[in-house]
Amino acid sequence: MEYEELDGTDVKIPKVGLGTYQIEAAPKEEAIAALRRGIELGMTLIDTAEMYGWGKAEELVGEAIKPFDRESLTIVTKVWGTNLAYDSVKRAARASAARLGTYIDIYLIHWPNLSYPLEETLRAMEELISEGIVRYIGVSNFSLDLLKRARELLEHNDVVTNQVEYSLRVREPEEDLLPYCQRERITLMAYSPLDRGRLAKRPPQKLKVIAARLGKTPAQVAINWLISKPMVVAIPKASRVDHVEELAGSVGWRIPDELVRELGVLEERSRWPRS
Ligand SMILES: NC(=O)c1ccc[n+]([C@@H]2O[C@H](COP(=O)([O-])OP(=O)(O)OC[C@H]3O[C@@H](n4cnc5c(N)ncnc54)[C@H](OP(=O)(O)O)[C@@H]3O)[C@@H](O)[C@H]2O)c1
Repeated sequence: MEYEELDGTDVKIPKVGLGTYQIEAAPKEEAIAALRRGIELGMTLIDTAEMYGWGKAEELVGEAIKPFDRESLTIVTKVWGTNLAYDSVKRAARASAARLGTYIDIYLIHWPNLSYPLEETLRAMEELISEGIVRYIGVSNFSLDLLKRARELLEHNDVVTNQVEYSLRVREPEEDLLPYCQRERITLMAYSPLDRGRLAKRPPQKLKVIAARLGKTPAQVAINWLISKPMVVAIPKASRVDHVEELAGSVGWRIPDELVRELGVLEERSRWPRS
């Protein structure tokens, strides 16, 4: 596995972690087996949220991690956008920790919701750190301006990550967020890195050809393209052991520069149809 340092902390997170959105839709034993296999293969960063299956995904994660050394894992979960009032954040975090059966390594605001003052939400999150329920604070789906605002408002901590959609198909973070995160050493956690499975299941021809030339699969190339960038980690979701094993093969090699350019040029010339 390759790692990225969580800046300002003693934590190293793997470049490829495990997403869990809709994991509760898979047969329970299969989902748990997939998560456990991922952890064995070094994908020790696990992303979940109170919103995923309204607690069911967190419960599954709690079950899956039982056999492992807790300190080897980095567990990320998120407070939903309607729970951002001070008391609600506190309550939501405790409920998430109870379902996970452990503390939360990185607690994220899932989506910004300006009906709640950001300072109030962040004050509750900082207190959760003092209370030992949360270790680090992060955000998700924050614009660059809002990310900067959150950093200003935090009194004793910094934002360690902004989790946003980023893949070969969705390139918006490259405009301003990614350069800022790289400069400021904030981890950019790429969600839907397989474009919700489409890059793996129905890859565009160009990606297929490049993957074949490299002796890799389209999913592996799509993830490797992301994680080759400084400060970027990816959290693909897979609820099957064979899928997880394939994803674990996304690290430990690099796409040659000329092929990286080809993948980039392709995206600029034609918007692949989204379906
Ligand atoms: N912060 C946010 O607002 C936000 C939003 C969306 C997602 N996320 C997080 O990011 C994670 C990943 O995003 P995502 O779930 O939207 O999409 P994704 O990771 O881009 O794609 C997931 C899909 O890819 C399939 N897949 C994985 N490996 C595969 C392989 N080797 N071959 C074929 N198919 C494969 C999975 O199928 P199987 O399940 O059948 O294996 C699943 O259907 C989420 O699970 C969640 O943790 C966060």
